[in-house]
Amino acid sequence: MRVLVTGGAGYVGSVSVERLLEAGHEVVVLDDLTTGHREAVPSTSSLEVASYGDAESVGRLLERAQVDAILHCAARSLVSESVRDPARYYRDNVAGGIVLLEAARHAGVGRIVFSSTAAVYGAPETTPIPETAPLRPINAYGETKRTFEGALRFYGEAFGLRSVSLRYFNVAGATERNGELHDPETHLIPNLLRAAETGEPITIFGDDYPTPDGTCIRDYIHVADLADAHLIALEATAPDDARTDAALVCNLGIGEGFSVRQVVDAAAVVVGRPIPMTNGPRRIGDPPVLVAAPNRAHEVLGWTAARPTLEEMIGSAWDWRRAHLDASGARIG
Ligand code: UFG
Repeated sequence: MRVLVTGGAGYVGSVSVERLLEAGHEVVVLDDLTTGHREAVPSTSSLEVASYGDAESVGRLLERAQVDAILHCAARSLVSESVRDPARYYRDNVAGGIVLLEAARHAGVGRIVFSSTAAVYGAPETTPIPETAPLRPINAYGETKRTFEGALRFYGEAFGLRSVSLRYFNVAGATERNGELHDPETHLIPNLLRAAETGEPITIFGDDYPTPDGTCIRDYIHVADLADAHLIALEATAPDDARTDAALVCNLGIGEGFSVRQVVDAAAVVVGRPIPMTNGPRRIGDPPVLVAAPNRAHEVLGWTAARPTLEEMIGSAWDWRRAHLDASGARIG
């Protein structure tokens, strides 16, 4: 298969590109490099530096590249930024996404896998969360992802587009080549590892939640497991595959939650010393508990997380940082 990966220079995108190449597929990366890293794109895939919301560039690229399917990982993905600047999220995640879908339609590309998020559920009433739970996003990020999932459903009904939306829970870990590097970095594990490196304490956002140790519980999933799921999901969009006769939506998590404190303790074991930390107030918009019911991904896609432990996730992230980041935290290879 020849696959266009939007956001292929980003964290999840780059690891998915690695996985696709490993499986023998051809990859074309589309990334505007506003948050992605050129170094993350291997020389065996071509890189087009443009936005997926730029109709002319995407149209030309699809005409030239003749891809069979699209893996749409590119997006604006900072929850707090989405609350401050919803216009950016609607413009890029929704309007930009429709530009991509229209270009795909005109080029005759009828298969897409989409990076969605647990943020579509908001603060759910039940846990673990099944895909059938009500979608009540509490920030513009989650709302724009929900909206695009809807677009995929209706493009399926109107134009026969085959799609899988994968609702990621908390992605963590790294491969040897690619890992997580955002600016600003808001995620727990990279912030813990940075605190271990620099000695600057990490702030724990809230220890008075209604959970056993008072800190938030999340379902962490290894980025390499996520990449495996993307490959299977792309295969499920084949024209004769009944699994995508209607738009398919699957949670991607391991189905088990860990508290912030448990993650801090696991990180201390990985790095071999205590992590400096302070307790701070709650971060706005953080639901107390987010854990996936991952059954549908098992049953429909036949996917299971092969690296479900915090040790594997944090350990691989730590190894990657030490191999790829310099003392200032910049990527060196
Ligand atoms: N946390 C801290 N200190 C930090 C960073 C995070 O205590 O420096 C806590 C958060 O408050 C939260 C937990 O660690 O309780 C995990 O936070 P992350 O920022 O790593 O991840 P989130 O659960 O906030 O975000 C994830 C996805 C988002 C998605 C969101 C849905 O990364 O894309 O779940 O709520 F929108």
